[in-house]
Amino acid sequence: MGLLDGKRALVTGARKGIGRGIALTLAKEGANVGLNDLIDDGTTQASAEVCRQSGVTATIHQGDVSSIAGVNAVIDAFEKEHGGIDILVNNAIFPDQSRPFFDTDEAYWDRMMNLSLKGYFFAGQRAAKSMVAQGTGGSIICLSSVHSYVAMRDWTAYGVAKMGLRRMVKGMAVDLAGTGITANCIAPGAIVNTLPANDDDVDGEPYDLEERPHLRERVPSQRGGLPSDIANAVLYLSSSLGSYVNGETILVDGGMIASSTL
Ligand SMILES: NC(=O)c1ccc[n+]([C@@H]2O[C@H](COP(=O)([O-])OP(=O)(O)OC[C@H]3O[C@@H](n4cnc5c(N)ncnc54)[C@H](O)[C@@H]3O)[C@@H](O)[C@H]2O)c1
Repeated sequence: MGLLDGKRALVTGARKGIGRGIALTLAKEGANVGLNDLIDDGTTQASAEVCRQSGVTATIHQGDVSSIAGVNAVIDAFEKEHGGIDILVNNAIFPDQSRPFFDTDEAYWDRMMNLSLKGYFFAGQRAAKSMVAQGTGGSIICLSSVHSYVAMRDWTAYGVAKMGLRRMVKGMAVDLAGTGITANCIAPGAIVNTLPANDDDVDGEPYDLEERPHLRERVPSQRGGLPSDIANAVLYLSSSLGSYVNGETILVDGGMIASSTL
C-alpha cells in the first residue's frame, strides 16, 4: 500500500529535474499522475513511462502554464483523463532564472511573474474549484526557493516571485479554510536537475563537491540536493503525514539558509 493510493496528482514542468522526480515519487506511492510541460518529447514520454512502471496511470499534458488560458487547458485535459484532481504541484520554471538588475526589462519581468506568480495562483484557484466540488479536500504545493529568503546578485525578479509564493500559500490556506485543502510551499536549496543516467532513477548525478566547493563550505549537510529530497517533502505535504501543515513553507536546503553569515 502506498501513501497516495488512487490520488490524482498534476505536476507542472515535469519533463525533467525536480518536477520529474516529484512525478516519479508520487507514482511510486500509488498516485495517478499527470505530467505537464512546455515540451512533449522522448524525454517527457520516458518520464511518464517510468511512472507507469509503478502500476499507476500517467498522462502527459503539454502546455504553457504561464497564462490563465494555458492553466485551464492543462487542468481541463488532466481532469478529462483522471476524473478530478487531488494534488497540484506548481513547479514549472524557465531556464534563464537570473537576470542582472539593469537588464531586467518589462518583457523579462512579465515572463517571470506570469509563470511563477500568475500561473501558479490561477492553477491553484482552478484546481481548488474542482477540489471543493469533489468535497474531498486536496493539496496545493508551490515550489519556492532559497532565493525568497536572501538576495543574491542578479536574482531579484526570481526572488520576488518566489517570495510572493510564500505569501500566496498563506492566503490560499486562509481563503480555503474549511474545505480540507492545504496550500504550502517548498523552498529548495541547490538541487541537481539533470536527467539521470538510468531512465528509472529519480535523481541525476549528484553535484561534484570538487567543482562546487561552496556546497561543502556553506551548506551544513555538505552536499547538493537531489530531486528526491524535494519529492519526499512533496510526499509529506500531499499525504496524510502532512495534513496539519497549512500555509507554510518548508526549506529543503541542507541548512544553507540557516548557515548564512553576516
Ligand atoms: N534546481 C534548483 O536548484 C532549484 C532551487 C530552488 C528552487 N527551484 C525551483 O524548483 C522548480 C523546479 O526547478 P528545476 O531546477 O527542476 O527546473 P528544470 O529547469 O529542471 O525543469 C523545469 C521544467 O519546466 C518546464 N517549463 C518551463 N516553462 C514552462 C511553462 N511555461 N509551462 C510548462 N512547463 C514549463 C521546462 O520545460 C522544464 O522541463 C522551479 O520552480 C524552481 O524555481 C529549483
